[in-house]
Amino acid sequence: MAAGASYRTAEASFLILTVTLILAASIDAKQKACDKGWECKGSIYCCNETITDFFEVYQFENLFAKRNSPVAHAVGFWDYHSFITASTVFQPLGFGTTGGKHMGMMEVAAFLGHVGSKTSCGYGVATGGPLAWGLCYNHEMSPSQSYCNPDYLYPCTPGADYYGRGAIPVFWNYNYGIIGDGLKIDLLSHPEYLEQNATTAFQAAMWRWMNPIKKKQPSAHDVFVGNWKPTKNDTDAKRLPGFGATMNVLYGDQTCGQGFADSMNNIISHYQYYLDLMGVGRQNSGDNLDCAEQVPFNPSYKSAST
Ligand SMILES: *[C@@H]1O[C@H](CO)[C@@H](O)[C@H](O)[C@H]1NC(C)=O
Ligand SMILES: *[C@@H]1O[C@H](CO)[C@@H](O)[C@H](O)[C@H]1NC(C)=O
Ligand SMILES: *[C@@H]1O[C@H](CO)[C@@H](O)[C@H](O)[C@H]1NC(C)=O
Repeated sequence: MAAGASYRTAEASFLILTVTLILAASIDAKQKACDKGWECKGSIYCCNETITDFFEVYQFENLFAKRNSPVAHAVGFWDYHSFITASTVFQPLGFGTTGGKHMGMMEVAAFLGHVGSKTSCGYGVATGGPLAWGLCYNHEMSPSQSYCNPDYLYPCTPGADYYGRGAIPVFWNYNYGIIGDGLKIDLLSHPEYLEQNATTAFQAAMWRWMNPIKKKQPSAHDVFVGNWKPTKNDTDAKRLPGFGATMNVLYGDQTCGQGFADSMNNIISHYQYYLDLMGVGRQNSGDNLDCAEQVPFNPSYKSAST
């Protein structure tokens, strides 16, 4: 308040101050009332439902029904608990908690659709159908190379191999380095953590889902939940919000802009299979489901994984 203001103004300011204090106190009380325990504390998303409200252990078991069958390649590794534990880092940032329960379920199905398709060992004649075999692998079985590229920021650790590991497979020293930075876990020195610890493996995949490949680009999360508004460049390139653009963010031209190729169709099939099993239904897949005609956000040599 300026010096020399009249009493009248001072009185009004006092009133405004009081109202502000009361409002602040009630917002405070509301946020406290909305904290939902160990999964979600102190974030604006705490008022929303959390993943365990709509995704329970039996649903995880349904989605990944064959992962512990004797012919699977990561028997006993993946479980519901590690998925939920990993998600507690990202739910306060909006993972599965943005836009209400329906969107939360769709996002979990979308994220797991990527995970399931990338870790599946289901083929045409597999028992239970080809889509029942997600989380069959936790690492590449016969790597043809060590995936080490000279990198100033993330030089390879002598003796370490950077072949595909995790829930959305991570390849190359550069990607281990940047995800390790994001999680504050030294994955550059210890890439093997992603095949030893399912929580870390899910966290690496969630970090990739929640973060853009390049600054000023949207993340897979952003393009899926509607946080991202395409520019004219994007619409010219047929990039629109939806599941299709999540494949564009994560895999670029390895999957997108190739028409209705098997690699893309397989990811979509897993997403829709999970929507059905979760009770959301594939009729609720959302707009712009594919990326058959999308121009990649980034050319392939920069994309996150194969
Ligand atoms: C979830 O939280 C975000 C951030 O506060 C909010 O914008 C959104 O409306 C919430 N959605 C629901 C359905 O609660
Ligand atoms: C697995 O990773 C999580 C998170 O990265 C960590 O908290 C936990 O201690 C790890 N478990 C083991 C057995 O190392
Ligand atoms: C839009 O696309 C043009 C042509 O590819 C490019 O030169 C320009 O930098 C893009 N603009 C933005 C904001 O990305």
